[in-house]
Amino acid sequence: MKIAIVGTGYVGLITGTCFANAGNDVTCLDIDPNKVKTLRKGKAPFFEPGLSEMMTKSINAGRLHFTDDPETAYWDASIIFICVGTPTGEDGRCNLSHVMGVADSISDSLDSFDVPPTVVVKSTVPVGTTHKVAQRLKGKYSIANCPEFLREGNAIDDFMNPDRVVCGVEDDRAKQNLEKVYAPFISDGHPIFFFDIHSSEMVKYASNAMLACKISFINEIASLCERNGANIERVRAGMCADSRIGNQFFKPGIGYGGSCFPKDTLAVMEMGDDANAPCLVNTAVHNLNQRQRKWFADRILKHFDNNLSGKKITLWGLAFKPNTDDVRDAPSIDIAKTLIEAGAQVSGFDPEACGTFHDEVPEVEIFKDMYEAANQSDALVICTEWAEFSSPNFDRLKSLLNEPVVFDGRNLYKRNEMANRGFNYYSVGRPTVELAIAK
Ligand code: UGA
Repeated sequence: MKIAIVGTGYVGLITGTCFANAGNDVTCLDIDPNKVKTLRKGKAPFFEPGLSEMMTKSINAGRLHFTDDPETAYWDASIIFICVGTPTGEDGRCNLSHVMGVADSISDSLDSFDVPPTVVVKSTVPVGTTHKVAQRLKGKYSIANCPEFLREGNAIDDFMNPDRVVCGVEDDRAKQNLEKVYAPFISDGHPIFFFDIHSSEMVKYASNAMLACKISFINEIASLCERNGANIERVRAGMCADSRIGNQFFKPGIGYGGSCFPKDTLAVMEMGDDANAPCLVNTAVHNLNQRQRKWFADRILKHFDNNLSGKKITLWGLAFKPNTDDVRDAPSIDIAKTLIEAGAQVSGFDPEACGTFHDEVPEVEIFKDMYEAANQSDALVICTEWAEFSSPNFDRLKSLLNEPVVFDGRNLYKRNEMANRGFNYYSVGRPTVELAIAK
C-alpha cells in the first residue's frame, strides 16, 4: 500500500517506520528540511530503542522515504495519516493549528487523485476535530480517526503488538484501507474496532485519563500510607492481587510527566468545561500530580531545614521515564528548579536525556557518569527508574556523598538494606521508621 505520514515526531516516525517494515511504500513528510536530511540517513531525531535500526532497514530496501514536499508525499497515496503535534496552547487549550494546516495542504492536492485517499487523523485531538478536518477537504475524500496508543521507550513493540486498534470511520473505503494496513499487526487475535468518529476520538483521551487517574490514585494512597505507618508497596501488592484492579500503571512515585498524560488530562478538563459538564475526577488527577512533585521537592528542603545554600544535590534520572531522552513535563525539571531556587548547586546524570535536560535547565551541571555526578554531593535524588540505578555500587556511592542521604522518587531500594548500608533513605509511601514485619 502507498502511505503518506505527515509529521515525524514520535507517533509519525514510529507509525511510518513500522508500516514500511510491514512491506508498505511509506513517505514521511516534515516541514523541516534539515530534519528530513537526517531522517534520510536513518537517524531518528530522538532516542527510541530499535528505531534507527528499523528505519535503516526499510530505507535501504526502498520502502521508507522522507520529504519536505507535500505533493511528493501525497502523490498516489491510498492513506494519509496526520500525525502532527497538538500541544497545549497559551490559553490552556489543545492547539489544532498544525492539524488544520495539514488538512489545508491535503485539500490543495485532492484534485490530482483519481481515487481519493483516506485521510486519517492520528494526532490526539478533541472530539469533533476529525470532522473539522473533513470540512477543510474540498473535493472527494474518505475520512477516519485512528488514535495511537504507543508508549515512548516501548514504541516499536507497542505498535507492532497493539492491545487493540481503534478506528472511527464513516465510509467503506476508510474501513477497508485501515483493515488492510493494520492486518499484519493484529494477526495474533487482538481486536480492531470500527466505531463512529466521535467515539474513536474519545477512546484516546479516556484511556490516557484513566491511566493518569490510576497513577494519581496510588500516589494519594501512598501519602495516606506514610502518614498512617503503612507501606504502599505492601498495600499495592494486596490490592493488585484483585484481578479487577490489576497491577499496571499503579506504581507510586513522583507523578507522571511526558507529552501526553499532563496535556491530555488538561484537554479532558477543557472538554468538560466546554460541555458544561466539569470533569471533577480529571481535575483532581491533575492537581494531585502537581502536588506530588512539589511534595517530593519540599521533602528534600525539609531535610535541610529549608536552607540549601552551599549544598550540592545530585539528580539521577532526568527523562520523564526510562528508555527515552524526552524531558517534556518531567518531574526532574520542577524538582531541579525548586532546589536551585532554594540555593542548591544541582548536578545531574541520565543515560540518554542529558542534552535535552540541559536545554531546559542549563544551570544544572550535567555529568556523563552517574558516580561522578554524585561526587561530593550532600544528597542523591532519584527521579527516573532507569535500570542502571536499581543495583548501584552502594559502597562507592556512600564514599562519594558528603552525607549518605538518598531521596528515592521511584521506590527502587529496600528500606532495611539502605538502613543497614548506613544511608538515610527517603522513599514514597513507606514509613521511614522500619516496622516489625520483615521484608
Ligand atoms: C502514554 C500512554 O501510556 C500511551 O498509551 C499513549 O499512546 C501515549 O501516552 C500518548 O498519548 O501518546 P507515554 O507518555 O509515552 O505513553 O508514557 P507512559 O509509559 O504512559 O508513562 C507516562 C508517565 O507516567 C511517566 O512519567 C511515568 O513515569 C508515569 N508512571 C507510569 C507512573 O508514575 N507510574 C506508573 O505506574 C506508570
